[in-house]
Amino acid sequence: MLGGRFIRTFHHMINTVIIHQDNNQLIKESVQQFAKALVEISGGMELEILLWRGRFFIQGEKLHYRRESFSLINEMLEYFPERGLQGLRFLPTFKQGSLKEFILFSRLINDSVTQNDPPSWLEEKLKAIGIQWVEILREMDEVPPDIEIRRKEQARQTYLHTMVTVKEVAQKVSQQSVAGIRKARRLAQTMVDLVVEEESLMLGLTTIRDYDDYTYTHSVNVALLAMALGKRIGLSQILLEQLGICGMFHDLGKVEVPKEILLKPDMLDTGEWDQMRQHPVVGVHRVLRLHASREMKSRVALGPFEHHLNYNLTGYPRIHFVDKLTLFGKILRIADTYDALTSERKYRPRAFSPDEALRLMWNKAGEDYDPLLLKVFINMVGLYPVGTILKLDTGEMGLVVDYPSEDERVRPEVMLLEDDGEGGFKSGNTVSLAERDQKTGSFLRNVL
Ligand SMILES: [Fe+2]
Ligand SMILES: [Fe+2]
Repeated sequence: MLGGRFIRTFHHMINTVIIHQDNNQLIKESVQQFAKALVEISGGMELEILLWRGRFFIQGEKLHYRRESFSLINEMLEYFPERGLQGLRFLPTFKQGSLKEFILFSRLINDSVTQNDPPSWLEEKLKAIGIQWVEILREMDEVPPDIEIRRKEQARQTYLHTMVTVKEVAQKVSQQSVAGIRKARRLAQTMVDLVVEEESLMLGLTTIRDYDDYTYTHSVNVALLAMALGKRIGLSQILLEQLGICGMFHDLGKVEVPKEILLKPDMLDTGEWDQMRQHPVVGVHRVLRLHASREMKSRVALGPFEHHLNYNLTGYPRIHFVDKLTLFGKILRIADTYDALTSERKYRPRAFSPDEALRLMWNKAGEDYDPLLLKVFINMVGLYPVGTILKLDTGEMGLVVDYPSEDERVRPEVMLLEDDGEGGFKSGNTVSLAERDQKTGSFLRNVL
């Protein structure tokens, strides 16, 4: 809230000085409001506002704002880059700043837009008139380190919270007690935000497999993959949230499948398969008994029912009266299979690598999977999804760990794998495949 007020009062001040003369009462008020907000947030200390990847960060914290502020924030998101600004830093001495100085500062920052090099011009002007309580932060290519750490941490925390929440709901459900989904809903909203802004970071999280419980990591992964696919085809925030909840609870029916069957290291016999195949139907029963609004339940019940049904309507449970699947069902089918194939399971020697899994699935496009959705999905996880092992033309091996940007996916960042001397590999340096030789300009490493 404070962050929002800061931006609003700043916006108000720089706009008021455009319309009014220095001695106007409204100007005086707007400066006072801004200075008050400044004191409140900074606690009288330094205050830093930064713009990064289209979002404002105040004191390193991402700014959340209400829908009503959307147009104002959008205006400010243009205001900074137009002036070559990454951000501003207000020093504690702003408290000694006079009314006249604040007005001048506002006018100068407004006017800097017409200059060739706005930040330098602004810096010079401020210096000339002796304003020392504000520092100009220029646009930089580097990600401010604390923001980088925070966003990764927030993503990881959300992942873990969601996993714990899904587990809690499943446990309550299996003890026949009533489970609410309020927490799950809140986490789904956070995940929507994260998937929209940090797609590759969130997709990267689905490759972390060192948690003990397959069922719950799988549920979160399916939710994330489904939401990311939903985002790619332009679903609204509300639908993405519902899709996320569908993903979290798509296997809820497994609470009725005995553990021995779920964890069996060998192939299941016929009787066991029959029990396993019940889980989509059981899942619907369980979802309908959750403590949530009827509307919500009606929206998230079908996805779990359909997630083992194929595009051509084969699969299970056997259906007799529908002729096509819902969009959520088709999305879950893809997300579910992809995550299952790329996970380590007891009954097979190893997990499929992302590219192997995608190839297998592509062979079944139009039969098991909606071909259009699958195409979008393959594009999304990328040519070299995070987690792929690459052989490089330098003789090195690398593990894809990240992408420099959402749209530059052909040259990912890889962690080089070094010989550990025991026939295996150990972690080496992380390098970008976009790195070029300084003299020749050609890429240092290429994918074989
Ligand atoms: Fe399932
Ligand atoms: Fe599943």
